[in-house]
Amino acid sequence: MRAVTIAPRAPGSLRLDDIPAPRRAADQLLVQAMAVGVCGTDRELIEGHYGEAPPGEKRLVLGHESLGRVLEAPPGGEFSAGDLMVGIVRHPDPVPCGNCAVGEWDMCRNGRYTERGIKQAHGFCSEVFCVENSMAVKVEKGLGLAAVLLEPASVLAKAWEHIERIGKRARWEPRRALVTGAGPVGLLAALMGAQRGLEVHVQDHNETGPKPSLVRELGAKYFSRRTQGGYDVVMECTGVPEIIKYVLGFQDPNLIVCLTGLSPAPSEVKLDVAPWNQAMVLGNQVVFGTVNANRRHYEQAAQALARADKGWLERLITRKIRLGDKWEQAYEKVRGDVKTVILLED
Ligand code: BGC
Repeated sequence: MRAVTIAPRAPGSLRLDDIPAPRRAADQLLVQAMAVGVCGTDRELIEGHYGEAPPGEKRLVLGHESLGRVLEAPPGGEFSAGDLMVGIVRHPDPVPCGNCAVGEWDMCRNGRYTERGIKQAHGFCSEVFCVENSMAVKVEKGLGLAAVLLEPASVLAKAWEHIERIGKRARWEPRRALVTGAGPVGLLAALMGAQRGLEVHVQDHNETGPKPSLVRELGAKYFSRRTQGGYDVVMECTGVPEIIKYVLGFQDPNLIVCLTGLSPAPSEVKLDVAPWNQAMVLGNQVVFGTVNANRRHYEQAAQALARADKGWLERLITRKIRLGDKWEQAYEKVRGDVKTVILLED
């Protein structure tokens, strides 16, 4: 069967391979892959910045944003043939640490977790894959291809959950949120902010293309220039050092800044710590980072996608590429693109 693979940490090793079809273990689902979403993490893996093949192997099957149809399932379980599912990316460490032991693998303390398509476990970009029953999330058939957005949405569901938990350290009545970046992560962050009844501002450098109208359709405001502050929450979804410095400069009291994007290193951007520290201390501000998601967040994300306008979700998928000729184009960055999806079924 066909699978998209890389040799981790070897730039330029991306290829379409022919690999043996997997055999299902007793506790696993056998799944026909329908679609796999592409994100910045895939491009960084292809560029050789990080990534690890499973122990004893040289190549890693890519793909952590999945959508599949169950072919075979263990009898008596939650799944049966024909169900649609999304695979959970991170698997708990083997020790396990206290957090992994209670299903909070997104907060793993020892770094020995594995991630499908990223770290020591094959991803979902093969025509057929297996996944443990306990690591699959059932999705509504009505969502169609938009269900491939569940994994990135789970990361934002976690971010919003943590923002709310931090907010509840005191009286919590947020009104206004800023989202920086109108890629898939930023747009899903904005969707969830709008669903919470917040006035959402989205700032992105694109002045044309689908992003401004996707933002306005949420009832949110779009800015292609920097805004002036006046926020309760900032969701930083670019990872761009200059933008991070700009959001860390806001003076708003009790502001919660959530960092979701990874910055490319090295960076020339310098931060003057003293004024930043003064605003943080005197304004009770919180800056925190977030990565990945556990099952609870996938479930929260599924609810957010179910409440969203289906047409809006579908418009986030701006390119669909079949695993045939020119499949590599799926990994190219095209200006104005939101989400590119690889289709694995004929
Ligand atoms: C994925 C996360 C993962 C992170 C770091 C992101 O692209 O969505 O699930 O934890 O990369 O590997």
